[in-house]
Amino acid sequence: MENPFKFGTVVNNEHFTDRTNEQREVRRVLKSSNHLILISPRRFGKTSLVKKITTELNRPVISLDLQLITSVNDFAAQLLKQVLKINKFEKIKHLISSFHIAPTIELNPLSNNVEISFRPIAKASFTALEDVFNLIEKIGEKSKRPIVVLDEFQEMVSLDKHLLKQLRSVIQHHKNVSYVFLGSLESMMKTIFESKKSPFYHFGYLMYLEKIPYSDFYEYLTQRLKKITKKEKNLSKEILEFTNCHPYYTQQLAYYCWEYLECNEYAAEMPNKVIAIITGIHDTDYERLWNTINQIDKKVLISLATDEQFNVLSVATSTIYSSLNRLTKKGYLVKNKTFEFDDPFFKYWINSRREFIL
Ligand SMILES: Nc1ncnc2c1ncn2[C@@H]1O[C@H](COP(=O)(O)OP(=O)(O)OP(=O)(O)O)[C@@H](O)[C@H]1O
Ligand SMILES: [Mg+2]
Repeated sequence: MENPFKFGTVVNNEHFTDRTNEQREVRRVLKSSNHLILISPRRFGKTSLVKKITTELNRPVISLDLQLITSVNDFAAQLLKQVLKINKFEKIKHLISSFHIAPTIELNPLSNNVEISFRPIAKASFTALEDVFNLIEKIGEKSKRPIVVLDEFQEMVSLDKHLLKQLRSVIQHHKNVSYVFLGSLESMMKTIFESKKSPFYHFGYLMYLEKIPYSDFYEYLTQRLKKITKKEKNLSKEILEFTNCHPYYTQQLAYYCWEYLECNEYAAEMPNKVIAIITGIHDTDYERLWNTINQIDKKVLISLATDEQFNVLSVATSTIYSSLNRLTKKGYLVKNKTFEFDDPFFKYWINSRREFIL
């Protein structure tokens, strides 16, 4: 039997569960003349949700992950590359030839891959990017407006400090494009879209993506796990207790539980065995990550993982508070009512290293 769980990449069809309200909300915004801002911690399902809706809407989609962009000119080149993926070069070459800076476009005849670059020109670093964004507006049809998805949008800030202002000045005039801004570093995204001083203040419809509700995820897990065990209810409950309904970690743990059940029977200690296997796979990554963390942050993480009270740390409350905020900014912790680990396996790793059980 095929393993029905999927993690790590974008999910759709039978791997996509719930989010009915969010799907409706995204669809509504994209059909209106507003832009969409979607924020959540890492791996909550932003890309999957947006991809599902944009595919259904049958409009041209241009997506770019800004994490992999190295400069403003690289941004322009990669964006143009995405434009050329869905538009024939012959059809738009007259528009490209009127760019202020001519791009170098090379076609690799073997792979059919197009490589694009803009030669850097002093003082005019934004010109190329401006031309590409305006090109998208020019080729956009009112009846079939292109959707431009800029993933990890908070990375803009590290590319160039003036970029946000310059970008806004250009795209605020666009009427034929829907922009979708995705981001996982909540505080930076909030500063960009919620702070009055920011050029992108209230630029679009702001949506926060939550975890998948317990009852929906429970249903999703039991429906699939019952094909491999009679204890699907116990197991689903145990999986969700450990992952706290985090979309990615739930699918990951369920995937490995399924693998385990292909060769073994369910037993009470089974989820823990599987959790230990997954944590073991990531041991080197966690160790590397641990070595980049400062002593105070390590103490705070250990306290949180082992459910110790912070007052045993003998550290000033203000120091603990800044540490919690720093760890949240970096994405290790997520703030709900209290501070929680984003990755339950990292929490388990800390605990098991303390107890020498891995
Ligand atoms: N609606 C869903 N139903 C079931 N699982 C989901 C759903 N959405 C996301 N997931 C799980 O979460 C994982 C991450 O999803 P996705 O890549 O869409 O999230 P993301 O928020 O864009 O992540 P990143 O922060 O890495 O960009 C998927 O591989 C899948 O395992
Ligand atoms: Mg994503």
